[in-house]
Amino acid sequence: MRRLAGPAETGYSLAACVRAGGFLVDPEWYRDAVFYELHVRAFADGNADGVGDFLGLTERLDHLVDLGVDCLWLLPFYPSPRRDDGYDIADYCAIDPAFGTLDDFRLFLAEAHARGLRVITELVLNHTSDQHPWFIAARASRDSPLRDFYVWSDTTERYRDARIIFCDTEKSNWTFDEASQAYYWHRFYAHQPDLNFDNPKVLEEIWGVMRFWLDQGVDGFRVDAVPYLIERDGTSCENLPETHGVLKELRRRVDTAYPGHAKVLLAESNMWPEDVRPYFGDGDEFHMAFHFPIMPRMFMALRLEDRKPIIDIIERTPSLPPGGQWGLFLRNHDELTLEMVTQIERDYMWDEYARDPIARLNLGIRRRLAPLMDNDRRRIELLTAMLFSLNGSPFLYYGDEIGMGDDVTRGDRNGVRTPMQWSSRRNAGFAPAEVTSLFAPLIDDPVFGFASVNVESQRGSTSSLLSWVKALLRVRKQTHVFGRGTIRFFTPKNHRVLCWLRSLDAEDVLVVNNLAATAQAVELDLADFAGAVPVEMFGGSLFPRIKATSYMLTMAPYGFYWFRLRRI
Ligand code: NOJ
Repeated sequence: MRRLAGPAETGYSLAACVRAGGFLVDPEWYRDAVFYELHVRAFADGNADGVGDFLGLTERLDHLVDLGVDCLWLLPFYPSPRRDDGYDIADYCAIDPAFGTLDDFRLFLAEAHARGLRVITELVLNHTSDQHPWFIAARASRDSPLRDFYVWSDTTERYRDARIIFCDTEKSNWTFDEASQAYYWHRFYAHQPDLNFDNPKVLEEIWGVMRFWLDQGVDGFRVDAVPYLIERDGTSCENLPETHGVLKELRRRVDTAYPGHAKVLLAESNMWPEDVRPYFGDGDEFHMAFHFPIMPRMFMALRLEDRKPIIDIIERTPSLPPGGQWGLFLRNHDELTLEMVTQIERDYMWDEYARDPIARLNLGIRRRLAPLMDNDRRRIELLTAMLFSLNGSPFLYYGDEIGMGDDVTRGDRNGVRTPMQWSSRRNAGFAPAEVTSLFAPLIDDPVFGFASVNVESQRGSTSSLLSWVKALLRVRKQTHVFGRGTIRFFTPKNHRVLCWLRSLDAEDVLVVNNLAATAQAVELDLADFAGAVPVEMFGGSLFPRIKATSYMLTMAPYGFYWFRLRRI
């Protein structure tokens, strides 16, 4: 058995809690939390115009409470030309009128908080829309006082070593601006000019944006595209020390201005673990960061029926400073990114999961979880259970709790951003029946269509995926070990079985996963726990007492166990 990196601090104590607004707040709440990512536009339409909005979302909060999630992550809802689904922001401190008003937002936030749900929002600080007043002013004249809010050049020679991220659509990170006869820099779409963080005024403006939303009461931010804030010649323009300097300064200001409020900063940094680690600093930068490379490896391990990809990447993952936490996910609003794999692994993933090129986008696969799993409940459950028992906080993507499908024929990543399927009635219960057109077509194919896949029918069935996901959340919440414990792997002979131990103080939970489509037997060396009784956590059954000799388990195809090791 090998001991692997886990968060340095594993304890949970009441003494660590701070008082804010009369309540006891655990500053590390995000380590136990289950997150739920959703798009206001796609969740529920409350004003009958075919577009989701804050009124609709507020009316549906009880579904989220019932599901058992702790924190909502809202995709961008600010005024925007929506050429990158809202990641092209035209006004940081307002609500897109299509989604409601600031009062609607405040009501939503109050109702969410009243139900014990936290809310984090998007902070897109690397770039704005080219329709943002800053950029409109900046390009109007080379002498504009806002010119220096963006990155300009007379040639395309600078920063040549920076890769192109949206490689299917963009040919260069420079675009020529006819109006001011110069090139501007952008790491994403050409309509998303990068802000210039070498200009201290930009940081002041972004801090103003953060304060605005924190003062509304949001519990933190998912911070978009953090590696690209600063450019320097002769570098990849990613992860530069100056970028870390900007981020540390923002964290310092949050801590100073909101002491004891337990606000969380979550980094989107699609990098190798050793390159993401610096975004935690010494506990003075981000509280959380997504672990991107583990995600494709979960899909890979399942297809290969081999645990190696998962163990390798977790072994390569450095430990985090106290309070640090990984964010883990299977799917989100973007393509299933294959940036953090080798070319051979990428080809394998494309071959296995996206043979039809229409399902591919940039370096990834634009599909939801259930279609990727051929709608096989056993595989969906196994991957979700692994997500919930690895070392981090799990993120669910809206609709995946009911096994929603996708539409690969829709442009960009829109095929995984379709309206939530609430019922089998007209408009899938997403919008009132009299609404004739929705912001996007519903999924209505025979397998994944809303007539068969929807919340209402699954709520009424104890055997539905929704009921299973709820049970999974309940079991995870019995203990802090999943959010805060260390992880160590076992390496039994049978490499189709992936087994790890989560430990926190005196508590040990053994997780055993069968990655194979066939039944498997495994012999585990559990001598360290001789005398303990494994208690299966979903049903409470007692398994045979562990002896000094090897422990034999038989596993159903794609089966898994979570055992509490009880020393009786
Ligand atoms: C990452 C977001 O997840 C993605 O949807 C967006 O297109 C880019 N950042 C650019 O903002």
